[in-house]
Amino acid sequence: NRNDKTARIAHVFSGTFVHSTLRAAVEILQNCVLGVDDKGKIAFIENHQDVVSLSEIWGFETSDIKQLGQYEFLMPGMVDTHIHASQYSYTGTALDLPLLEWLNTYTFPVEAKYKDLDFANNVYTKVVRRTLKNGTTTACYFATIHTDASLLLGELADSFGQRALVGKVCMDCNSAYPNVKPVVTPRFAPSCSSSLLSELGEIANNNKLHIQSHISENKEEVELVKTLFPDCKSYTDVYLKHNLLTDKTVMAHGCHLTDEELEIFRETGSAISHCPNSNISICSGMLNVRNILNHKVKLGLGTDVAGGYSPSMLDAMRRTIDTSKALTIQDPQHKTLSFEEVFRLATLGGSEALSLDDQIGNFVVGKEFDALRVNVCVPDGPIDLFPGECPKVILEKFLNLGDDRNITEVYVAGRQVVPFPDTK
Ligand code: GUN
Ligand code: FE
Repeated sequence: NRNDKTARIAHVFSGTFVHSTLRAAVEILQNCVLGVDDKGKIAFIENHQDVVSLSEIWGFETSDIKQLGQYEFLMPGMVDTHIHASQYSYTGTALDLPLLEWLNTYTFPVEAKYKDLDFANNVYTKVVRRTLKNGTTTACYFATIHTDASLLLGELADSFGQRALVGKVCMDCNSAYPNVKPVVTPRFAPSCSSSLLSELGEIANNNKLHIQSHISENKEEVELVKTLFPDCKSYTDVYLKHNLLTDKTVMAHGCHLTDEELEIFRETGSAISHCPNSNISICSGMLNVRNILNHKVKLGLGTDVAGGYSPSMLDAMRRTIDTSKALTIQDPQHKTLSFEEVFRLATLGGSEALSLDDQIGNFVVGKEFDALRVNVCVPDGPIDLFPGECPKVILEKFLNLGDDRNITEVYVAGRQVVPFPDTK
């Protein structure tokens, strides 16, 4: 608010801003100015014609304004609601087995290596840098069972400046990082006893912590859960009975959830992380996102590295559309997701899924400035533009054709984190 004289302005951008609101999946603000205060929060977003009075009120020099070019815009940072940092070393490989065999053959042997902190440091550094460079300003990470390596992942996210939730978590070493938080992480029902699930539910509820896990990813897993928890009505009921479904819960996949189970998600305020690359890559299923949205269940997108082979949230958006189109091919009545809707899922939707929508997700005064500077016209870049293309078309081209070359700057909580200080 303009009367807050204690806040000083750290950055001012002028040009085109693209974001989602509750009413519009895509809102394009042209000829606007956006100010970020020295606490990393959005201080104002106004019409450019008011820039002189804004500079007087807020005490910034108009010569310090960062002017975005004709082919540039700012968009909110992307939120990866589900990514296994520990699986990044083999991302792009090992996609030839279904989930349960995939876990035993590839995943568990690799994750065992994280007792070695040098191994962990190498992979975790690379995954944080790669995802930041690709515009993931918030990542909800699975680490491994190793406390020291999990703490190291938190330390690396903090030092590179990424906002993150990190599980597994050691509750007696609560982190003091401003933008990195612990998340209680039962791997999934088949690998947790009832008493472990209960204890984790209690820890999460007593400490108001986030919770993440997997649910109903493939059919074999759903059948396995039925035999392991015969007293529970459904997979969802397993987590419900152990107090693991809260408004700070995000469950990955959910491909095979019934409408009845979705009702429980809606009632508890729990969210689903849609991981379309993974769902196709290891042949788990096709989540009907339209049905999830119709049930008013919170939903974000996830890469699910390394079940998903790409660490990029742009890929997660494209695969979300592909899956939606495949569902339309099967059933022409199915209403395909639009690119605007998918843009919202990758930004505002992700922030809702992680219960961070009071802090991040779009450009609203008072929220933290997590943003990407996008230039669709970089030299030798992946996008060709033609005369007369409007900002909406330019956004659509970026979402379908763009890559990290087009993401020229990344900001988290007002701090510029890409380009990395060592490469600037
Ligand atoms: N279910 C339990 N663990 C995992 C995992 O590591 N990846 C995926 N995709 N599903 C899981
Ligand atoms: Fe996963």
